[in-house]
Amino acid sequence: MKISELRSMYLEFFKERGHAVIASASLIPEDDPSALFTSAGMHPLVPYLLGQPHPQGKRLTNVQKCVRTTDIDDVGDTTHLTFFEMLGNWSLGDYWKKQAISWSYEFLTSKKYLGFNPAKLSVTLFAGDADSPRDDEAADAWRSMGIPDEKIYFLGKEDNWWIAGNSGPCGPCTEMFIEVDEIPKCSPDCRPGCNCGHFVEVWNDVFMMYFKSDEGVYTPLRQQSIDTGMGVERTAAMLQGVPSVFDTEAFVPLIEYIKKISPKEEFSEHDNTLIRVIADHVRSAIMIMADDRQIAPSNVEQGYIVRRLLRKAIHSADRLEIGRGFMAGLTDIVVDMFKDVYNEVERNREFILKNLDAEEKKFRTTLAKALRRFDKIYEETGTITGQDAFLLFTSFGLPLEMTRDLARERGVVIDMREFTRQFEEHREMSRTATQGKFKGGLADHSENITKLHTATHLLQAALRKVLGDSVQQNGSNITQERLRFDFTFPRKMTPEETQQVEKLVNDIIAKDLAVEHSFMPYDDAIEKGALAFFKENYGEIVSVYRVGDFSMELCGGPHVENTGVLGKFKIAKQEKIGAGILRIKAVLQ
Ligand code: ALA
Repeated sequence: MKISELRSMYLEFFKERGHAVIASASLIPEDDPSALFTSAGMHPLVPYLLGQPHPQGKRLTNVQKCVRTTDIDDVGDTTHLTFFEMLGNWSLGDYWKKQAISWSYEFLTSKKYLGFNPAKLSVTLFAGDADSPRDDEAADAWRSMGIPDEKIYFLGKEDNWWIAGNSGPCGPCTEMFIEVDEIPKCSPDCRPGCNCGHFVEVWNDVFMMYFKSDEGVYTPLRQQSIDTGMGVERTAAMLQGVPSVFDTEAFVPLIEYIKKISPKEEFSEHDNTLIRVIADHVRSAIMIMADDRQIAPSNVEQGYIVRRLLRKAIHSADRLEIGRGFMAGLTDIVVDMFKDVYNEVERNREFILKNLDAEEKKFRTTLAKALRRFDKIYEETGTITGQDAFLLFTSFGLPLEMTRDLARERGVVIDMREFTRQFEEHREMSRTATQGKFKGGLADHSENITKLHTATHLLQAALRKVLGDSVQQNGSNITQERLRFDFTFPRKMTPEETQQVEKLVNDIIAKDLAVEHSFMPYDDAIEKGALAFFKENYGEIVSVYRVGDFSMELCGGPHVENTGVLGKFKIAKQEKIGAGILRIKAVLQ
């Protein structure tokens, strides 16, 4: 069965059962600043799962464009993708577990629909914990479909509980797996959820029953809803009896094109993984750029993900000796593949082509500089050490995997332990350099220390707002208990100034803003207003932490993800420690 047939059969099946077919939402979430991408069909439906009436009724179905960057390092295996399509059906306070399971079973196994052999179907269910009981109700529904007990597995929250992000509507779920005969079980304990490829998950029915608060408290939802998701590419692979998603028509034309434009005659297993990575990453980047929000590659947010995907794809293409400009041909294939399903793809074709070209040029300029440096080091020393790899990374933004590949081609194996050690030391150095001190030793990433690092950024921003831009950091030191911050200021602060600074910091904490991290060229960071000290210590590519419009600093981290976790900020002590330098000690309570 072709993908186009799978899409229409699914929508028709649920339409016949009273569901309204709704359009795919944008890949960029509209009202959810906490997520970069729509990662499931339910994402745009959260307000309706929480009880707001949907204009098209209580039963909905659609095909949704999704991006999941959490799986980026798994791309290349048989099932993982960064961009994928998800089929879904929803009951908003309408039908419940038994009905949802019975339709899932019918659609999967009936000869009229997908026709999977019922003997190859296994399901998983929530095993129960202090928050919610074991899902015997759903297990009974599966038994009544004829699924034997040995094909019903009870698993914990990590496997059988669905929530998008950290808080929101959530509940236990039941996942459906098809067994692949061609891939034998990896061990007698092999079960659904194992990554060996024998059990492939094709569908997930979520029973939305709870609301999880930011504090982690579960309360029952006003209405019980069903949220389901079926991965299009995986299900198509299973239906077509092919070994991976890359063997379906979603990828075959891309893979053939990549092979055609590579001058290589033979492709090793590693080459084939690179080909899959190029196909997946370019397809994802194109689909993100194809969205009407017109996301171009950049150093922030969605644009940064596009940049990462493209740079990894360009690097992989280089390994296959593919020439410049290869992404234009892939764009034509992807646009033609999707233009009838998602209208915006054709509309944004020119935007995509223009940005792919610009990004490739930009990346190659950075790369050329890095490669010249690489060659120089290699010529002079005859090797590439872990420290060299680290310098290439911090000064030129040369990804480690590229340095490793280049070294391997010269018969050099990079000492990864040394690289990691340098990396850890650098974190500490960049922090202590900013602090005007060099302590040595490994960075302390404990929770309190991390919180106090973020608090220091907020403090510095607040001080500049209250006392003026002449405030310059002179040193900083953090222990488990407190932060210490020295800065240029000729006197102690008045009680009013002190209160104002505390209030500014506490207001930002109360807003629970995201602490966003990105890498960008030093000049871009300074142009954007990032605070930086000891310029000579920074490479060309710098690490930047930003909290809304409030604070932006060059820093190696670590930092908390959201300001909300910091607690209450209080200035505990002030002292003048020398000519024109004021020292503040502050705590989080
Ligand atoms: N929201 C559920 C999932 O994406 C259906 O698996």
